[in-house]
Amino acid sequence: MSNTILVGAQWGDEGKGKIIDFLTETADIVVRSQGGNNAGHTVIVDGAKYVLHLIPSGILRSGKKCVIGNGVVIDPIAVAQEIAGLRDKKIKVTKDNLLISDCAHLVLPYHRVLDEQRESKKGKNRIGTTKRGIGPAYGDKAARVGLRVGDLMQPAIFSEKLAQRIKENNAVLKAFGAKPLKFAEVNAAYLEAGKKLAPFVGNTVVFLHESLQSGKEILFEGAQGTFLDIDHGTYPYVTSSNTTAGGACTGSGVPPHRMDRVLGVMKAYTTRVGEGPFPTENAEFSDLLHGMGREFGATTGRARRCGWFDAVAVRYAAMINGIDDIAITNLDGLDSLPSIKMCTHYKIGKKTVEVPPSDFRQLQGAKPVYIELPGWQTPTHEAQKYSDLPKNARAYVEQVAKLTGAKLTIVSVGPNRDQTILL
Ligand code: GDP
Ligand code: IMO
Ligand code: MG
Repeated sequence: MSNTILVGAQWGDEGKGKIIDFLTETADIVVRSQGGNNAGHTVIVDGAKYVLHLIPSGILRSGKKCVIGNGVVIDPIAVAQEIAGLRDKKIKVTKDNLLISDCAHLVLPYHRVLDEQRESKKGKNRIGTTKRGIGPAYGDKAARVGLRVGDLMQPAIFSEKLAQRIKENNAVLKAFGAKPLKFAEVNAAYLEAGKKLAPFVGNTVVFLHESLQSGKEILFEGAQGTFLDIDHGTYPYVTSSNTTAGGACTGSGVPPHRMDRVLGVMKAYTTRVGEGPFPTENAEFSDLLHGMGREFGATTGRARRCGWFDAVAVRYAAMINGIDDIAITNLDGLDSLPSIKMCTHYKIGKKTVEVPPSDFRQLQGAKPVYIELPGWQTPTHEAQKYSDLPKNARAYVEQVAKLTGAKLTIVSVGPNRDQTILL
C-alpha cells in the first residue's frame, strides 16, 4: 500500500494525465486537490483521446474512485459538461466513481470576466492566463467572500449570497467598462448545474480517511506545475493555487504523514504556455516540435513555448516537492536531434547560480549554461523496455535523473498506455 503525490516538475503539461492513467491500473482512488479547469490532462486509450479538465484522469479506468477535493475551484457548468462529454464517449460517471467536495469553491461568471478584464488591462504585462476565472476565484476564497459547492446544494442560501456577490462585482465590472451580469440568468444556470452535481457531492475528507483505514491506495493528481505555484513559482506569472506537493495535503484533507512518495513528472525538454520567464526557451526547437504537430495546449490550443531541459529548475522542484521518483515523458520528441542541450547552471551577471532566483526579473536575465549530449537519431516510440532504448537515449535520461537528484522510474516514449517504460 502506498499513497503517491504526482506533481508537475516544470511549467505544467508535463504529461501528468498520461502517467496518472498508467498508474491508476494499480491504485484505488485518484484525487485532484488544486487548480480548476485551467488544467488540461490528455489521456489516449485505445486510440480515443480524452482531455480531462476537472475530473481526475483515473475516471477512464473502471472500478476506480475519483475525488475532486476541497482545494479545487469548480465551475459547475464546466464540470457538468465534462461529465456529459465522458458519458457520450461511454465512460461511466456515477456517484459510485466520482465524489466532489462540498468545501470546494465555485468559479462564477464574474471571476471569468474579471480574469479577462485584468488580462486585457495589463496589456504586454499580461500573465497569459487560461481566462477560466481561476485567479479571481481563489482570490475570493482567500478574501472569504467565495461561494462553495455546499452553498450551491442549498438553493435559497446560494441565491441570496449570489445576489450580493453579483451586486458587488457588477460595480467592479462597471469600473472596467465591462457588461454587468444578470443575477436571474446566472442563478438559474448555476442551480441547474447544481442539480446535476448533487449526487456526487459530499464530505470527501471522511471518504478518504475511511479509504486509508481500509488500506486503499491513493494517487494525488497534481495540476499545473511547480513553477506555476502561487508561492514557489515565477510570481506573478503563476496560477493561483499550490501546485507543489503540499497542496495535495491541504487540498484533500489527507495529512502529510500518510503520503508515501512524491513522483515528479517532467518532459525530456521544457515547455511553457502563457507569459513569464523561461531561461532555456529556444525558437528553433519550438518550431521543430510545432512542425511535428506537437506542443499545442490541451485547454486553450495555444502553441506552447519550448526549450531545452532545465536542470536548475527541476533540481529546485525536487527540493520543494521532495521528489523521490521521476517520470520523464516525451523522450520521443528529441528523437531526430543530432545533439541535445541540457542546462546545468545559470549565469546571472558574473555569478553562477544553481537554483532559480525568486525574482522573475532576475530569472529573465539569467543566461543558461549548457552541456551538450549526443542525440540518438532513432525512433524510440516502439521501445517496450528500458534496454530497447538507444544507448544515447539512456545516457540522456540518466543524466536528467542525476542532475535532478531523484530515481528514474518511468520513461514515456509516446502518448499511449503501452508507450510507457517502467524501470
Ligand atoms: P498534463 O497537463 O501534464 O496532463 O499534460 P498535457 O496532456 O497537457 O500535455 C502533454 C501532451 O503530451 C499530451 O498531448 C499527451 O498526450 C502527450 N504525451 C504525454 N507523454 C507523451 C510521450 O511520451 N510522447 C508523446 N509523443 N506524447 C506524450
Ligand atoms: P496542466 O494541469 C500549463 C498557466 C497559464 C498561465 C498561468 C496562469 O494542464 O498542466 P491561470 O488560468 O491558471 O490563471 O493561468 O498558468 N497554466 C497552465 N499551463 N498547464 C496547465 O495545467 C496550466 N494551468 C494554468 O497558461 O501562464
Ligand atoms: Mg495540460
